[in-house]
Amino acid sequence: QNAAPLAKFKPSRISTSLRSSLQSIVAPEVDQDFTSAQTRVKILSEALPFIQKFRGKTIVVKYGGAAMKSEALQASVIADWLGKLNIEPNFLNGLRVTDASTMEIVSMVLVGKVNKQLVALINKAGGTALGFVGDIASVDPTIIRPLIDNNHLPVIASVAADATGQAYNINADTAAGELAAALGAEKLILLTDVAGILEDRNDPESLVREIDIKGVKKMIEEGTIAGGMIPKVNCCVRSLAQGVRTTSIIDGRLKHSLLLEILTDEGAGTMITG
Ligand code: ADP
Ligand code: ARG
Repeated sequence: QNAAPLAKFKPSRISTSLRSSLQSIVAPEVDQDFTSAQTRVKILSEALPFIQKFRGKTIVVKYGGAAMKSEALQASVIADWLGKLNIEPNFLNGLRVTDASTMEIVSMVLVGKVNKQLVALINKAGGTALGFVGDIASVDPTIIRPLIDNNHLPVIASVAADATGQAYNINADTAAGELAAALGAEKLILLTDVAGILEDRNDPESLVREIDIKGVKKMIEEGTIAGGMIPKVNCCVRSLAQGVRTTSIIDGRLKHSLLLEILTDEGAGTMITG
């Protein structure tokens, strides 16, 4: 409808090229395009402040458990992370790894087993192969920081070793929270299998979109936040207390929940602020 006044021009009095552009503006099928262009501008203007705000900032994402169950979901979350980085399929010893099941085995062996064995060995030998020391007595971000600064996207398993090289399975929420604090991250995002913090655990519609530390403490006291949600929320509170600006608990089952949370005003779950 915005294009309508343009149609008042007499086509005969204007140049052919302008006439054809005007005709394309008023043509019904292109009008659709025009509307979607408006929508695109709206989306961009909502996202731009966040793109500026988060530029050069670190966001720590905890991804695992329920949010990782479906393969389609995994692919969609990974695409949200990597889409803009143009990551090519991996090469291993000069060979292109394209076969999905081969890739799965390779990553299982390299990341899951060999990597951790090496970490344990190096730590035993007195080196520092991984940032985590002890039962999250401290997080040493000196290995991860330069990787992030060089635009790598470290994927960190929540396995850590003590001073003797003994490996421990650390709670992944806790690990992400402490890591976010140590990195001076802007935002910590925990992906889970509920919409976020719910006012009524059995009603997915009762999502709390934004809440502060006081508010979550009250919800825990009242018993509204219970079970597995308590350590999650507490981990957010600890990160906030250590300087992480905002933390979010979002639905990993929801397609593009990461982008929705980061780039829209409304977000995709519950944002907890300090
Ligand atoms: P994950 O496996 O992703 O780490 P958890 O199962 O440990 O997640 O914690 C999430 C669970 O917390 C939800 O599935 C839900 O059953 C429970 N929960 C308890 N209270 C709430 C609440 N107020 N809002 C949302 N979830 C809650
Ligand atoms: N995109 C903004 C941010 O990441 C706002 C997100 C709001 N999220 C919410 N669940 N209320 O800071």
